[in-house]
Amino acid sequence: MAKAPSSTFTCTACGAVHKKWAGRCEACGAWNSITEEAPLSAGGAKALSQRGRTIPLTDLATEEAPPPRVRCGMDEFDRVLGGGLVPASAILVGGDPGIGKSTLLLQATASFARNGVKCLYISGEEAAAQVRMRAQRLGLSDAPVGLGAETNLRDILTTLDAERPGLAVIDSIQTMWADTVEAAPGSVSQVRAAAHELVTFAKRRGVAIILVGHVTKDGQIAGPRVVEHMVDTVLYFEGERGHQFRILRAVKNRFGPADEIGVFEMTGGGLAQVANPSALFLSERGQAQPGSAVFAGIEGTRPVLTEVQALVAPSTLASPRRTVVGLDSGRVSTILAVLEARCGIPFTGLDVFLNVAGGMRVNEPAADLAIAAALLSAREDVALPPDMAIFGEISLSGALRPVGQAENRLKEAQKLGFSQAIAPERTKIEGIDGMLVRKMPDLTAFVGEIFGAG
Ligand code: TYD
Ligand code: MG
Repeated sequence: MAKAPSSTFTCTACGAVHKKWAGRCEACGAWNSITEEAPLSAGGAKALSQRGRTIPLTDLATEEAPPPRVRCGMDEFDRVLGGGLVPASAILVGGDPGIGKSTLLLQATASFARNGVKCLYISGEEAAAQVRMRAQRLGLSDAPVGLGAETNLRDILTTLDAERPGLAVIDSIQTMWADTVEAAPGSVSQVRAAAHELVTFAKRRGVAIILVGHVTKDGQIAGPRVVEHMVDTVLYFEGERGHQFRILRAVKNRFGPADEIGVFEMTGGGLAQVANPSALFLSERGQAQPGSAVFAGIEGTRPVLTEVQALVAPSTLASPRRTVVGLDSGRVSTILAVLEARCGIPFTGLDVFLNVAGGMRVNEPAADLAIAAALLSAREDVALPPDMAIFGEISLSGALRPVGQAENRLKEAQKLGFSQAIAPERTKIEGIDGMLVRKMPDLTAFVGEIFGAG
């Protein structure tokens, strides 16, 4: 007789399965991430040797119509989905507690419902009365959304099967509980089982599913990473506490571009869309100040201008501070090293603080030159011209590399009243007139031109 399967140990960070518990996952190196799980049923050893049916094969040239999409009418939401909701797709929306996930999804669900999609909103966190109260406050009470407060997965699946909605929102996946799995809700095996059941159901029955996922302290969706692999689209809802702006970012999308963002503002009446994010992110900019540089960036398919702010001050610490918010700190260290090694401008003995105004996150390498400009401007105490936009990637040799979509960046800057720009040397700028674009081969040339010989 085959030995009964024993429980396995799964890493919550990478999903690797181990035979025994250990303090550190050998696969990904994370500490304290391994938890015990009940065995998965193996389903009989003979199963695979039996004959299955033949799969109908097509060739790669088979024409397939693009997926039909339903738009909800909130443009910022539709764009992040890649141009609307694809039927029978599974979407995961992650974000910190209290950032506004439930608010956003209630608003989106109501919009879809008003556009004729049959929608269900299942809340495992709040009572139906609470959700109804919020809907009232947001002025959505008249939207034909079916509301349920439930955490039992079996009951939810039965309801979905009976109702056959076009869209079901599950808020949140961590509260769902499958009675086939002996573990507490929110544990790795529960989250994985619930997500698997819901996603398979979505595909089989043609229901689009949006799962809400909580995020742990280090910014990952709680539960195994495998949930991210199961779904078609992963969106993160992010924002800084104390800031009104919220950004919905696509980090994975099988039906559209990743890195697309939607910008919202949290108001007393819910989330308001921000149609022109550049104007918003630059709105707090006053007079020309040392340490401020405007970066002409691209987020997904659209150009977005942001302000990079730097402060450089003498340090009393043995190893000076490098505080970076909204930018990649590794990237910033590299730029500081290039400034020192290639341009002879050291930052030793100086504290460096850098951030992006408005709580925005910038991940593009094209921001390098704007970061360098902000750092230099702060260090030299010289303000950059207020009507200057900057972009370009810095290589380790100090050379400036051209970046994609230069014309879109420049057009957006021009639209917002910027009349000059700094770009890498080989940037193509046909179709831009009325704007002074200075092209520079390397960082040394940039320093010489803008700050005098250094
Ligand atoms: P919520 O959607 O409950 O967050 P999550 O589901 O991500 O945990 O949002 C809660 C926060 O949003 C709360 O701090 C109050 C704020 N809020 C507003 O400022 N205006 C509003 O109209 C609503 C509904 C919420
Ligand atoms: Mg919530």
